[in-house]
Formats: sequence, structure tokens, C-alpha cells
Amino acid sequence: MAEKRESLHGQWSGRWAFILAATGSAVGLGNIWKFPYITGENGGGAFVLVYLVCIAIIGIPIMIAEVMLGRRGRRSPLNTMRHLARDEQVSPHWQYLGWAGMIAGFLILSYYAVIAGWALAYFFRTAAGAFTGVTADGATSIFASLVSDPERLLAWHTIFMVMTIIVVARGVRSGLEKAVRYLMPALFVLLLVLVGYAMNTAAFDEGLSFLFTPDFHALFYKVDDAGVEHLTWGPVLVALGHAFFTLSLGMGAIMIYGSYLPERTSIVKTSMMIAGMDTLVALLAGMAIFPIVFANGLEAGSGPGLIFQTLPIAFGHMPAGAFFGSLFFLLLTFAAWTSAISLIEPAVTWMVENHGVNRIYASVWAGIATWLLGIVTILSFNKWAFSFEFAGQVKESGIFDMLDILTANIMLPLGGLFIALFAGWQMRRQSNLDELNMKDGVGFQVWYFLIRYVSPLAVALVFLNVIGVITL
Ligand code: PHE
Repeated sequence: MAEKRESLHGQWSGRWAFILAATGSAVGLGNIWKFPYITGENGGGAFVLVYLVCIAIIGIPIMIAEVMLGRRGRRSPLNTMRHLARDEQVSPHWQYLGWAGMIAGFLILSYYAVIAGWALAYFFRTAAGAFTGVTADGATSIFASLVSDPERLLAWHTIFMVMTIIVVARGVRSGLEKAVRYLMPALFVLLLVLVGYAMNTAAFDEGLSFLFTPDFHALFYKVDDAGVEHLTWGPVLVALGHAFFTLSLGMGAIMIYGSYLPERTSIVKTSMMIAGMDTLVALLAGMAIFPIVFANGLEAGSGPGLIFQTLPIAFGHMPAGAFFGSLFFLLLTFAAWTSAISLIEPAVTWMVENHGVNRIYASVWAGIATWLLGIVTILSFNKWAFSFEFAGQVKESGIFDMLDILTANIMLPLGGLFIALFAGWQMRRQSNLDELNMKDGVGFQVWYFLIRYVSPLAVALVFLNVIGVITL
């Protein structure tokens, strides 16, 4: 057996620090911004159900595997894969998984920071009372004026990237840990306040039934221009991709956090907790947003602007709305911040390990590159906007939508597929048992079956169906 490695970048102070940091990575714009809008675009209940199934049988097993690989390798994802491949005497090409992950993280962060900038802008707007008494049309036009102004978007994007670089440069313990300890619980409480508000709108039941009543026919069949119905697997791919995105899986973020995990912590239990909290936050966000959408006659499928066009209406009409509203967008910014950090951490640790640069230098350069690419996303919403169709949806923000589809729906599921294959088929059974600290009992066997067969086949099947190789 390989000797035990130590991380070069420090360790979490304990199990809770890991749980908080990994939850900080998982809970972010994915839960509060993206989950509601893609659920809206894909018709609600059936999509939510497919997403929940993906979390349970693909997301959680792969999360366990990814944390496990990280803790065993104790290096940046690239070097972790290289070491583990050597330990297990398999092909060194597995290190390319680390490469692909770094590229995915870089691409995701480039647009993620722009959207986080919207949240930041809304913090100040709400605090200034811009939404007091606002109508649905008013909220929509305030959003439209923000995204049509590249200079403003650039300013907020820049501020958010600077915030991210500062925390990453300071390192795991002092930087990351502190940021999450209080902010996550506070965000949770605020979501409950919003759900409370939604309960008092006339459309709470309608919102809930949109979210939880599945209509599979509408999910799988799309009507084309000629009025003919076609079977499509597109929405299933979107749900699968989102399961990876929301749990931060498939690109090394959870792997690098796992590499800072103390020896004895139970990976299975902590992974389930993290996935559980992440799912809860997403469902609460949906329960807050859809009643507001329906009560105000808004469009559930209106796309990436959805929360920015709906929640301000709620804040504009509740008591102390400017206070709650600004607090909400502040916390959303924090949630995005703790996710952004984990998107860039694999690349930063790799630069430190392989290029002998210090953390500050690595963070600044990785940050500048990401910032530059972010400009493409900014322009996607205005000067460079064009539309195309994907999974039965009209996507209106050209390159931004393409980056999102490429990363969330293709790169992350593929990364996850290879993580599952490595843990399930390349590592010895005994290495899995050792690192998970488990006995070869039912619990282990269930996970091992999921990771060897169910997760890889499910991902492969969805891909093949989307490509149209297999038609059902
Ligand atoms: N999980 C984060 C969110 O839901 C986004 C993310 C994806 C973070 C991939 C890290 C890696 O907002």
C-alpha cells in the first residue's frame, strides 16, 4: 500500500470545517439562480423529479468517490490523479482528468462571476429602495437595463473577481473556512422568510404544484414548428448536468476539498449531509420563487433573469423589504463567493505544486485570466447576443449559454463518469475500502454497485440518447 500523503496546502481544522466548506462550494448560484430558471424552462415537476433521481443515484455516489480520491491523493486534482494512477499501477493518462477539471472550473468561473456581479448590483439596488412598491413590469425593466449595459456589468464582475482572488490567495484555513461558518445558516433563514412570504401570495398552491406535480409527457415531447411531437432527451441531460453543477462535481472542486480532509472523517456521511443541504436549499428557492412568478403573471420560462425579475417584487411589497432584500442579495453574493473559490482552487494548487510559484501569484494570474474570459459572457447579454435552440428551449444569450451547456451539461458529467470509472474499475476494491474506512458490508456494496454500474451507465445512456445513437 502507498504511504500516507500530507497535503501541501494545509488541512481543515476538523470535520465541520470540511462540511461547511464543501457545502459552501455546493450551495451557490446553482441552487438559487439556476435551479429555478431551468426548472421554469423545463416545465416544473417532471424535471425536478428527474433531477432528484440524478442526485440520489449518480450525484451522491460520485461525490463520495470524488472526496475519497482527493483524500487519498492529497494533491491538486491533476497530481492526485497522477499519484493514484501510479499507486494503482494503471495508465498515467488519468491525470488528464485533472486537466479537464481545471479547464471546466476556469470556464465556469468566467460566467459565474458575471452572474454573481448581478447579485452584488442587486444588493445595492435593493438597499437603496429601488424596488419599493415595484410592479412586475418595473422589475423586468430594471433587470433589462442592467444586463444591457456592459460597463456596469464589467464593474461588478471585476469587483467579484477581486473578492474571489483575495480569499483564494489567503489559503484554505484562514481564507475559506471563515467565510462559510455564519453565512450559510443565515442564507438558509432568509430563504425561509421568503417562503413565508410566498405562502401568503394567492399562488402558493399553484407554485407548489408546478414544482412537484410531474408531467412526463410535456418533459419528453416537444412540438416542432410543423406541430409534430418529437421525443427528446435534452431536458434529462439538463437535469443530469445540473445535478453535477449544483453538487460541484466532476471538475475537481470537491476533490481538492477532500484533499484537506482529516484522516478519520466519514466520507459517506458527510457527502450525504452536503447533498441533502444542497437539495433543500434548491427546493426552498423554488418554493419561494414560483408562487411569486404565478401571482404576478410572470413567465416561468423566462431564463437567467428569473430570480432578478421575481424576488424584487416580493421585497418591494413586504414590510422591511429593503432590509430583507438587500440582506438576501448580500447572502447570495456570499454563497456565490464560497463556490467561486472552489472553482479556481484546483488550478491554483496545481500552479503552486508544479510551477513553484506562491499562492498569491498563482491566484492573481488565474484570476486575471478568468476575468478576461468573463468579458465574453458580459457581451453575450447585449452587444454579442444571439439566440439558438437547445433541448427545446430558445437560448437568447449566445456564448454565455454555450459555455453553460458545454461545462454543466457535457464537461461535468463526463468528468464524473471518469471519476466513477476510476474508483470503480481502476482502483482495487481494497483501496476503496481503506480510504472510505468501511467494512465490506451492505453499505459499501451498495455504493460500489452504484459507482461501478449505475452511475457510469446512466451518464452514458443520457449522452447516447441525446446524441441520438440510441433512440427509445
Ligand atoms: N455548486 C456551485 C453552485 O451550485 C457551482 C459549482 C460548480 C462550484 C462546480 C464548483 C464546481 O452554485
